[in-house]
Amino acid sequence: MGSCRQIAAQLVAPGKGVLAADESIATMSGRLEKAGVEATAENRRRYRELLASTPGLADGASGIIFCDETLRQAFADGTPFANAVRGLGILPGIKVDTGAKPCCGLPGETVTEGLDGLPARLAEYAEMGAAFAKWRAVYLITDELPSAGAVRSNANALARYAAACQEAGIVPIVEPEVLMDGDHPIERCAETTAEVHAAVREELGLLGVDLAGIVLKPNMVVEGADHACRATPERVAEATVGVLRAWPDELAGIAFLSGGQPPGRATANLEAMQHHRTPWPLTFSFGRALVDPALAAWHGDPALVAAGQALLAERVAANANAVRRRARMQAA
Ligand code: G3H
Repeated sequence: MGSCRQIAAQLVAPGKGVLAADESIATMSGRLEKAGVEATAENRRRYRELLASTPGLADGASGIIFCDETLRQAFADGTPFANAVRGLGILPGIKVDTGAKPCCGLPGETVTEGLDGLPARLAEYAEMGAAFAKWRAVYLITDELPSAGAVRSNANALARYAAACQEAGIVPIVEPEVLMDGDHPIERCAETTAEVHAAVREELGLLGVDLAGIVLKPNMVVEGADHACRATPERVAEATVGVLRAWPDELAGIAFLSGGQPPGRATANLEAMQHHRTPWPLTFSFGRALVDPALAAWHGDPALVAAGQALLAERVAANANAVRRRARMQAA
């Protein structure tokens, strides 16, 4: 448990966030194809090496989350990804859920799977060098959803995952994501996020999960993507921190997902949160908001690796600077 607390604190260390590069093979393949890159295992490897070997990445990234395929791959020089990033001063993490799947009894909703055989997989990942893990549950907002059944089932799975991780000495990143899909107002996202978090907290408590040894990875509280107006960063920060205040002080930290927000908006919202005094650090664990510009610039061309890396470095630095402002303000 002690080492989980230390690693969790390292992941949310002042001025640092976590890079999410753990898209499943199917999702990553789709993103590569959209960028004009053939979806092969080697191209997925090259792309992840581009990200992980970005010069200076460790200045703003404490960890990188990979998927199973990447953790079993190696840099071009033969060094396995986990060892390579450790050598660069970054903790390797692993996505251990097997995806959000339709669930009998919950029409139109999903429950995230991956609990079968999880302790054995965690032991293998630990052996391969993984320091932390990730499990993502997703919740759709409609007039009727999410249902109480989806909220409860996903919370239970997140807690079972978190307990298994801590037993294996791996820090669980607990990711309940209320999706941006829909035209709902920000208040509806706040209410749903609060309901989802309450269930997650309850299930974590029932399984004795040590909150000082987890990192919570929530959505920011924003309006639906099809809503008529965009909330300001100040409004998003106020609504998000308002919901998060229900978490106990001992929680190691909070690292937001970007959820499909444009990169600049995700950073502005993160920065606005730093103006609120909270007992836990508020940082980033973005995927798309960090990597999209890099993927578009690289688009598979070996001559453009440095151009892609420069854009990733820029996004990481912008978010790390936003988070550093907190340390300065809270010390003042
Ligand atoms: O599971 C999703 C990732 O961990 C975060 O990705 O920032 O693109 O939403 P995102």
